[in-house]
Amino acid sequence: MGQTVLLTGGAGYIGSHTFVALRAAGHDAVVLDNFSNARADVPDRLEVITGAPVRVYRGDVRDGALLARIFAENAIGAVIHFAALKAAGESVEKPLDYMDVNLGGLTALLKAMREAGCFRLVFSSSATVYGTPEVLPVPETAPRGYANPYGFTKLACEQILEQVGASDPRWAIATLRYFNPVGAHSSALIGEDPQDFPNNLVPFVAEVALGKRAALNVFGDDWATRDGTGVRDYIHVEDLARGHVMSLGHLVETGQSHTVNLGTGRGYSVLEMLAAYGRAVGRDLPHVIAPRRPGDVAEVVADPSKAAALLGFRAERGVDEMCASSWAFVSRRRNG
Ligand code: NAD
Ligand code: WQD
Repeated sequence: MGQTVLLTGGAGYIGSHTFVALRAAGHDAVVLDNFSNARADVPDRLEVITGAPVRVYRGDVRDGALLARIFAENAIGAVIHFAALKAAGESVEKPLDYMDVNLGGLTALLKAMREAGCFRLVFSSSATVYGTPEVLPVPETAPRGYANPYGFTKLACEQILEQVGASDPRWAIATLRYFNPVGAHSSALIGEDPQDFPNNLVPFVAEVALGKRAALNVFGDDWATRDGTGVRDYIHVEDLARGHVMSLGHLVETGQSHTVNLGTGRGYSVLEMLAAYGRAVGRDLPHVIAPRRPGDVAEVVADPSKAAALLGFRAERGVDEMCASSWAFVSRRRNG
């Protein structure tokens, strides 16, 4: 049966795509976002894509009174909690901001859910909780760690959820560890749209393709990988969004909490991604070799088998589709 799902951070990159996937699967969704990292026109774009009005609460996930009002005004059956600060580099400069929003946001939300009698939660975790993985591809059972305050908050959130889940059998909590989400919706109306300086590889490559940057800085070509550049597991954001719908379905059907990787199981190097983006744009994109980025690791690739066995989830889209959809979105955005 269709659920009304509260999406904290639902105007952001992954949240907006998940909104569309939920509606396509017969659910409805309500968005809570403070628009600190989202464009004001995202709700209008979601209305165009889904053909129905979008209910948005503009405010902070740490605001308990606002959360209580949202639960009072809507029959929320589940929550997907995306709202967070996510820039690992920035978190080193501003650790308290990350602890406040990421830990304070989760605890405020959990309290409001308990008060409202809503016990189904899907949480945005990250491959960052694996730190430097010793076993590749990384299974969910791998040891956890962190390399920066952002990673610390994701690990701490996982641990908070374990303790809260163990405290009351009504809780059904999904912890989804995303690998590297890239790409944009097939409509080219929503996509990754950083408010200021990009943090991740593909938004940087997009700026090179748009001519905003002369060349991509490749952070090291002496890693122990096939071409010396860092290898990651890039997953199309529409596949990732579908993973949330499947995880929610599992929570509703079984009431069973679960922790799964959402990745493809295939790794691509920086140079391979740059070449794929160049194919989407129709020309080679320039790069220069720069020093290694502090805290980087050579390779992170998901073992996706648990998500397949438990949820029936398999990523379907490859890197060419990821890059082509990103390019369609950013070039359309450039033209207004
Ligand atoms: P995003 O920044 O695009 O989305 C987060 C949304 O939350 C934004 O719309 C922002 O305005 C909102 N927000 C931030 N602080 C808020 C607050 N205090 N109250 C209300 N809203 C607030 O990021 P995203 O890439 O969509 O990431 C979503 C989640 O997935 C985050 O929890 C992030 O840590 C996690 N994650 C992201 C990646 C990635 O590479 N994009 C990888 C792993 C995990
Ligand atoms: C990918 C590869 C870089 C930019 C980060 C966060 C992590 C998680 C996912 C949220 C690496 C290389 C990058 C550039 C480059 N986020 N690179 N030039 O490192 O897997 O992790 O995003 O949870 O917490 O730390 O992703 O996109 O930053 O980098 O050469 O200008 O691209 O060295 O090998 P990463 P990324």
